[in-house]
Amino acid sequence: MKFKMIAVAATSIALAMGAVSGISAQEDVIAERQQTMKDMGAALKAGKPGDIAPLAAKLKMLFPEGSTSADSEATPLIWEEWDQFVALFDKLEAASNAGASPRDLGGTCKECHDTYREKKS
Ligand code: HEC
Repeated sequence: MKFKMIAVAATSIALAMGAVSGISAQEDVIAERQQTMKDMGAALKAGKPGDIAPLAAKLKMLFPEGSTSADSEATPLIWEEWDQFVALFDKLEAASNAGASPRDLGGTCKECHDTYREKKS
């Protein structure tokens, strides 16, 4: 009897931990992409547009399906139009590798933000 209760308690703790780690994994990915976006902004400001390419490539991995939250400005439209969304990162990466100016790259940043980012105050 006592053993059974311990087993039940252990199971519910395991389930609770599983749920918590699921949430924190999603928060981690959101925090990481926000930081990577900031790094791209810093690269532009520093006049190093060539540094954008690997960051844009990395960002493609940082938007797992449905990963948005109260702290995220990512809109659900991203996953409805995934191919168009990712194409903008590809465009950014290619332009960075081709030596495009910070101004040209900035146009792609804006193009994506206008459609797939919802600014929260
Ligand atoms: C393919 C789409 C896309 C492109 C291209 C893109 N961004 Fe973003 N950006 C987003 C999305 C979506 C968010 C919101 C992320 C979130 O809050 O989860 C964002 C957020 C940001 C943020 C805010 C990060 C924070 O701290 O919350 C900055 C800064 C930023 N982007 C800079 C840039 C710069 C600079 C470029 C171009 C060099 C760029 N982005 C290109 C989609 C894009």
